[in-house]
Amino acid sequence: MRRATSSPATSSARSTIFLPEELLACDAPSPPLGLIAELTHRCPLQCAYCSNPLALDPPASELSTDDWLRVLDEAAALGVLQVHFSGGEPMARRDLEIMVAHANRAGLYTNIITSGVLLTPERMAAILEAGIDHIQLSFQDSDAVRADGFGGYKGGHAKKLAAAALIQGSDLPPTTNFVIHHGNAGHVAAMIALAEDLKAERIEIAHVQYYGWGLLNRSSLLPSRAQLDQVTDLVETARARLSGRIAIDYVVPDYYAQRPKACMGGWGQRIINISPSGKGLPCHAAESIRDMVFPSVRETSLAALWSGSEAFARFRGTDWMPEPCRTCDRREIDWGGCRCQTLALAGDASRTDPACSRAPDRELMTGAIAEMATPVTPVPRCLAAVALGA
Ligand code: SF4
Ligand code: FES
Repeated sequence: MRRATSSPATSSARSTIFLPEELLACDAPSPPLGLIAELTHRCPLQCAYCSNPLALDPPASELSTDDWLRVLDEAAALGVLQVHFSGGEPMARRDLEIMVAHANRAGLYTNIITSGVLLTPERMAAILEAGIDHIQLSFQDSDAVRADGFGGYKGGHAKKLAAAALIQGSDLPPTTNFVIHHGNAGHVAAMIALAEDLKAERIEIAHVQYYGWGLLNRSSLLPSRAQLDQVTDLVETARARLSGRIAIDYVVPDYYAQRPKACMGGWGQRIINISPSGKGLPCHAAESIRDMVFPSVRETSLAALWSGSEAFARFRGTDWMPEPCRTCDRREIDWGGCRCQTLALAGDASRTDPACSRAPDRELMTGAIAEMATPVTPVPRCLAAVALGA
């Protein structure tokens, strides 16, 4: 029997999990809910909104199969409930099925976040045999010409439709994901219609989050306020129409918000992210904070990373907060927003997130929106010596 579903586990569910000795100390943090296993930065697509770092981990630096199996064991012992196999394109790793089977045996809920372009019938059978619980399939747009143009992969959209058919033919609940930006915000109605055709049970409509390549290309990707409002209205209308049949998750861009998101559910509080080369990160973009050292799972156990490393402790909780966060009644709701976004905008990760209207640096957010007036051609994510199927 699985210990978790794709929805966040309750604290009562977590209280039944065995905790290692070192986490039973009263000042130790609660165990993470989820592990994001970034298996590789290799990907056959070149989306300009990719949140991978500009300096991609080269294939030769990737953790071995044995390393990952040990990490999965350590995650289960630490109390992690869910593992999300991500990338890059996680299916570029030929050992993905081995990892899914291992995580499954360790009692972890398993999810693959994929573009679907490498999902053949043979691999689908192997992944099902390994006991996968969920696959999230991403699309770049609602039609092949636009999607293939943006993803830089001719024939990619057709492969995604074939992947969707394979998922639909299994017992897995189909989930589709669409990433929204200035260039495709006008196609959201068609995206929802496509997801309905594909018999999705869950649709994620997620505006670009501006990290890595997405941040580099922000001036061409950021939608206007009018586009955002139009998409929000469409999503609300679709939610009402599809209620009880298809759930729609909606992720908005921080740039037009009054309050920031609780990024990762709070730094070092719910998620542990392992990069392809093995660095333990509180979030996928944490390496952009250059003055921090992130230990590797090659030398440090997951439990020690989580409860003992300076990197995870630095912005955990509320003690680190400056004003106005320190005395704000939302400080344990959004945990001061996103550290990486704050660094990117304000040059200092320890300030209040400019996504907050109370932030002293709020005008930086307004300035970023103003850059939209002079968009440039987006830079496609680099292929980074793609050697697929290693
Ligand atoms: Fe959140 Fe800080 Fe803004 Fe309060 S002041 S809403 S804690 S970011
Ligand atoms: Fe790093 Fe938000 S992406 S804290």
